[in-house]
Amino acid sequence: MEIINWKDLLYPYRQTVDELLVKLRNLDAEYRYLGIYSPIDSVTGRVKSTASIMDKAGRKKIPPEKIEELMEDIAGIRILCQFTEDIPKIIAMIRSRRDMKVIEERDYITNRKASGYRSYHIIIRYPLQTALGYREVPAEIQIRTNAMNFWATAEHSLRYKYSGNIPQELQERLTNCAEAAFRLDREMATIREEITNAQRLNEIKDNLVSNILQNIHNLYFGAKLENMEKINREFIDLWNQNDVEKLKEFNERLNMMAEVYRV
Ligand code: GTP
Ligand code: MG
Repeated sequence: MEIINWKDLLYPYRQTVDELLVKLRNLDAEYRYLGIYSPIDSVTGRVKSTASIMDKAGRKKIPPEKIEELMEDIAGIRILCQFTEDIPKIIAMIRSRRDMKVIEERDYITNRKASGYRSYHIIIRYPLQTALGYREVPAEIQIRTNAMNFWATAEHSLRYKYSGNIPQELQERLTNCAEAAFRLDREMATIREEITNAQRLNEIKDNLVSNILQNIHNLYFGAKLENMEKINREFIDLWNQNDVEKLKEFNERLNMMAEVYRV
C-alpha cells in the first residue's frame, strides 16, 4: 500500500484557504470603506485535518488515490452574517465572481437537516496559480447566520464526543436549541432595519470624531493656532450633546480652517 505524502497533498489547499480568506475579508472591508452595507459579518477558514480526512474517506469508502478528486471540503471557508436576509446577497456575490467557479449548491436553510442543522453550502473550484502551474482546487463555502453557527458548533462538539450517538435526552434539548436559534433569526429579522441603521450611524459618528480630532491636532500642532482651547471645549460640549448633525457642522468648520491654514 502506498503511503500518502500528506504535506504535499495539503499544501495547495492551504494556499486556497489563505487566498480565499484574504479576498473575502477584503471584500467585507471594501463594502465598509464605500459605506455600503456589508452582508458579511466575519470569515473563517480551515484545512481539514488529516484525521478528519481519513475518517471521512473511511465512512464514504473513498480510496486514498481518489481523495483529491472526491473530497470537496478539504479546503473549507465559513462566512458568518448577522441576518438570514444577508445569505442570498452573499450567494449572489459568490455566483458572480470570476475566481470562484460554482460546482454545486446545497440549501440546508430551506431544507434543514433532520438534526436541525441550517446552513447554505456552495462547492466551488478555485483557480490556483502554483509554482508547479495552474490547478483548480475544490473548496466548500458554508454560509450561515451567527445563530445558525452557534448551534452547529455546539452540536458538532457533542456529536464528536458521543461519536454520533448523542443520548436521547441531550438530543431533545439540542433540538429545542435549534428551534430557539431559528426563532432568534426570525425575531432579529423584524428589527433588522433598526439595527443596521444604528450600526451605520455609529460608524458615521466614529469617522466624524476621528476626523475632528485629526483636524484639531493639525490646527494646534501644525498651524500652531492659539485659540484651540476654545475649539476643544466646543468639541467636548458637542460630544456630550451627542448630536451627529451638530458634529458634522463643527467638522466642516474645522475643515475650512484647515484649508485656510493649509494643514
Ligand atoms: P460530511 O458531512 O462532511 O461527510 O459531507 P457530506 O458530503 O455529507 O456533505 P454535507 O453537506 O452533508 O456536510 C458538509 C459539512 O456541513 C460537514 O462537514 C459539516 O461541517 C456540516 N454539517 C452537515 N450536517 C451537519 C449537522 O447535522 N450538524 C453540524 N454541526 N454540521 C453539519
Ligand atoms: Mg454530511
